[in-house]
Amino acid sequence: MTQKRLTPPMLPATALPETLALDAGLIVDPVTGAIQPNISMSVNNLVTPGEGAFSAAGLTDITQEPFTYARWLNPTVRALETRMAALEGAEDAVAFATGVAAIAGTFLTLLKQGDHLIISDVTYAGAAELARAILPDFGIEVTPVNLSRPDALQAALRPNTRLVHCESPCNPILRLTDLKQVAQIAHAHGALVSVDSTLATPVATLPITLGVDLVIHSLTKFINGHGDALGGIVAGRKDLIARTRGRAGVYLGAAMPAMNAWLILRGIDTLFPRMRQIATSAQQVATFLETHPKVTRVIYPGLPSHPQHALAARQMAIPGGMIFFQTADPAAMARQLAARLRVLHYAFSLGHQRSIIVMLDTADMMQGSYALTPDQLADYRSYAGDGGFRLSIGLEAADDLIRDLDQALAG
Ligand SMILES: Cc1ncc(COP(=O)(O)O)c(C=O)c1O
Repeated sequence: MTQKRLTPPMLPATALPETLALDAGLIVDPVTGAIQPNISMSVNNLVTPGEGAFSAAGLTDITQEPFTYARWLNPTVRALETRMAALEGAEDAVAFATGVAAIAGTFLTLLKQGDHLIISDVTYAGAAELARAILPDFGIEVTPVNLSRPDALQAALRPNTRLVHCESPCNPILRLTDLKQVAQIAHAHGALVSVDSTLATPVATLPITLGVDLVIHSLTKFINGHGDALGGIVAGRKDLIARTRGRAGVYLGAAMPAMNAWLILRGIDTLFPRMRQIATSAQQVATFLETHPKVTRVIYPGLPSHPQHALAARQMAIPGGMIFFQTADPAAMARQLAARLRVLHYAFSLGHQRSIIVMLDTADMMQGSYALTPDQLADYRSYAGDGGFRLSIGLEAADDLIRDLDQALAG
């Protein structure tokens, strides 16, 4: 029995992102006609002797083969990949067990001994630790660069630079990267560009339309949006995704479990209305925080006070759900907030339906990071001081969040 696969070509060509978020990659069950996605939990599928690839799966285009073995390709995971590719306007996508596996998979596919990686000097800490502590063991040179400065990128390029990896907004300080400009500079030099777009989501930014080669997400965050599944994805040009799937998808072995793909597909169904509601609340909370006497600085792309507000307006359709703010004595304030907050949750991670706040100590962050230049350190401190609060807005009533922060910040 052939599967009826409802993929973007079967949707009207005019289908808009909100519709693609529901229907791209949907497989209508051929037996029952069920229109909610099935979960295919089977590790293996029946095969026909003499047909399909039974070994060296990483060396063949397994997306063209019958489903065989879940680490190579699983129907539910494939539905998620198809949907994410459609949302990013990418030719294809490959899913991983986590966001970090998607980042590691990209690096280990595109870089080899003797190559040079330029990476944003501020990224999610796990990406920084991987680049700083592990890639050099494979003979890969790494230079951390403030990618909001085109002159710094230009100066860091070397003949062996193969990849420029950015984040926008950067976790945690919400500095932005002009993706179009970075892509132009890197491409003129023959280097590829990847961006971790987790904090933006495709609702805010479509990096491929700006010239970026590969878009990476931790699906664990806003895209799933419910804090109950880990996942990662890399989307981009077909040949680059085929290479990433072949090398890292198959041989890194960090395959996404089908149950997670199913949960994340369900999360994506509501991605657009969720993100718009979250951004509306975030704008209200950020505006409130800016007036609070205990708050010394607020960084939110939707505020005119953001140092790159014009870029935010150009590059982000919505200003997102993340806020970063400073107070005096952040360690003491962290203890106070953890003890007093009643609606917000003092915890790590971000992008869930419930609001989450955590203090990130600058000395701690720097310990896991690179040896930054005094200029780079000064830039980080200008956003974060000795430490700042990373606030991920959820779906609670904005007024409840504001009241909660107000009472908890009060001394
Ligand atoms: C921007 C960003 N990228 C990647 C990751 C890693 O994602 P995961 O925990 O799914 O591996 C995180 C996690 O916090 C993140 O914030």
